Amino acid sequence: MEYALVTGGSQGIGRAIARELAGRGYGIFLAALDNSFLDETAAELIATFKVPVIKFPVDLTHEKAALTIKETVESEGICLKILVNNAGFGRGDFFENISLETYHIMMGLNNRVMVELCYHLLPVLKKNKAAYILNLGSMESFLPMPVKAIYTASKHFVLAFSLALGTELIGTGVSVSILCPGPVVTNEDGMRRIKNNGARARLVVMMPEEVAPIAVNGLLSGKKVIVPGKINKLILFMNKLLPLSMKMVLLKKIGISFLPKESLEDERFKNQA
Ligand SMILES: NC(=O)c1ccc[n+]([C@@H]2O[C@H](COP(=O)([O-])OP(=O)(O)OC[C@H]3O[C@@H](n4cnc5c(N)ncnc54)[C@H](OP(=O)(O)O)[C@@H]3O)[C@@H](O)[C@H]2O)c1
Repeated sequence: MEYALVTGGSQGIGRAIARELAGRGYGIFLAALDNSFLDETAAELIATFKVPVIKFPVDLTHEKAALTIKETVESEGICLKILVNNAGFGRGDFFENISLETYHIMMGLNNRVMVELCYHLLPVLKKNKAAYILNLGSMESFLPMPVKAIYTASKHFVLAFSLALGTELIGTGVSVSILCPGPVVTNEDGMRRIKNNGARARLVVMMPEEVAPIAVNGLLSGKKVIVPGKINKLILFMNKLLPLSMKMVLLKKIGISFLPKESLEDERFKNQA
C-alpha cells in the first residue's frame, strides 16, 4: 500500500487533501495536533474510503517532531509516496502588534518544519520510481502583503524553496509542487470575515473541497506551481503588470480592509491605515 503523509490533515485544506488522496486509494499518514479533529478525521477516512489511516498526534513545532515522524515511517516500513506539507498558519495585523513568540511559531511551522520533513523524508521518497512533495504556499507567495508581513514572507520562502528543490531533484523521480490558494474558508471566523467583506471577497474565496482535487491533479501531473481558481490566476497575471509602488499601495488597502476594528483604532497605527 502506498501512503501519503499530510501534515495538519485533521482540518481545513489538509483534511480535504487527505480525503482526496484517500479517495484515490492512498493510505493516509495523518500528522496533526492531538485532539478530537484528528480522531474524527481518521475515523471518517477509514469509514468512507476503506483505506488504512495512521494517526500521528504531534505538535509539529516541537524540535524533534520531523525526526520522530521519519523514524516512525521507517520503523513501520511505510511505503511513502507523497508528502504534503500543509500545516501552517498566518495572522494579519500591523507588524508590531503581534508577539515575537507568535512569529517564531509561524516561521517554525510554515518553514522550518517543512524543510525538516523534506530533508528527513527525501531518502524514503526516493525509494519510489515516482514520488511527490506538495508544499502549501499561498497567493501571498507572490504578493508581499502589508499587515501580514511575516506570514507573506514565510510563504515567499515556501515558493523559493519549492522551485529550487524541485529543480535540484529533476531526474530523481521526486517532483515538488507548491499550492498557492487565495482565501479558503476553513473555519467560522474565516466565513465571518468573508461575509463582512461582501461581494469582492466572495468572488475570490474557495472551499477546501474545491481546492483539493485541483491540488492533487496538479501534484500528480508534476505541475510546479498550482494556483486554484480563474480569478486567482488573473490576479497573479495582473500582479506581473503593475508597477511595484502601485501594487504595494493596493495590497496595503486590501490587507487593512481585513483587519479587526481594534487594530485600526489603535493610536499607534492611526497614520498608517
Ligand atoms: N485558509 C486559507 O485561506 C489559506 C490560503 C492560502 C494558504 N493557506 C495555507 O494552507 C495551509 C492550511 O491552512 P488551513 O486554513 O486549512 O488551516 P487550518 O484550517 O487552521 O488547519 C491547519 C491544520 O494544521 C494543524 N496544525 C496547526 N498547528 C499545528 C502544529 N503545531 N502541529 C501539528 N498540526 C498543526 C491543525 O490542527 P488543529 O485543527 O488541531 O489546530 C489543522 O489540522 C496553511 O499552510 C496555510 O498557510 C491557507
